[in-house]
Amino acid sequence: MIHITYASETGNAESLAEDTATQLSNAGFETTLCNLEDFTPEKLTEVKTLLSVVSTWGDGDPPTEAEDFYLDLKNSQGLSLSHLRYAILALGDTDYEFFCQFGKDLDRELSARGAKKLTERIDCNVDYDDEFEQWYGLVTDAISNS
Ligand SMILES: Cc1cc2nc3c(=O)[nH]c(=O)nc-3n(C[C@H](O)[C@H](O)[C@H](O)COP(=O)(O)O)c2cc1C
Repeated sequence: MIHITYASETGNAESLAEDTATQLSNAGFETTLCNLEDFTPEKLTEVKTLLSVVSTWGDGDPPTEAEDFYLDLKNSQGLSLSHLRYAILALGDTDYEFFCQFGKDLDRELSARGAKKLTERIDCNVDYDDEFEQWYGLVTDAISNS
């Protein structure tokens, strides 16, 4: 089962997460799609493969709907995620000082708990179609070869 999560303020990350879920299930993978608003760090202990599409909001902050998840994750010092493989697609805008900061922060916190990268995080500027295709290709290669 591939868990696809997203955090979005105006729908871009949500829409890419939906596309990811649709394409993966059309390719024969079992997927589940979830807003980080409805997710907890503890649930990650049951997840083997996590794909997360997240934007950055405010001043380098998570989207509002992901604030609780991120706070809980930062506070879960004892959480071990060494069983978890993950890939992050980060949306942002280079006009902002803290470009794609939430994606970077989420990456750091997962990695600090022992989770392993399926593929390197890709940070996207406002035109993200090509980066999404690239990320999706890397993700499917990594999943298919494991
Ligand atoms: C009010 C506002 C604040 C933003 N702050 C940041 C930021 O700090 N860093 C960044 O990289 N992008 C920032 N962005 C850009 C968004 O992350 C980008 O537009 C993204 O595609 C939004 O995706 P979403 O619709 O999934 O929320 C901001 C955009 C707005 C409108």
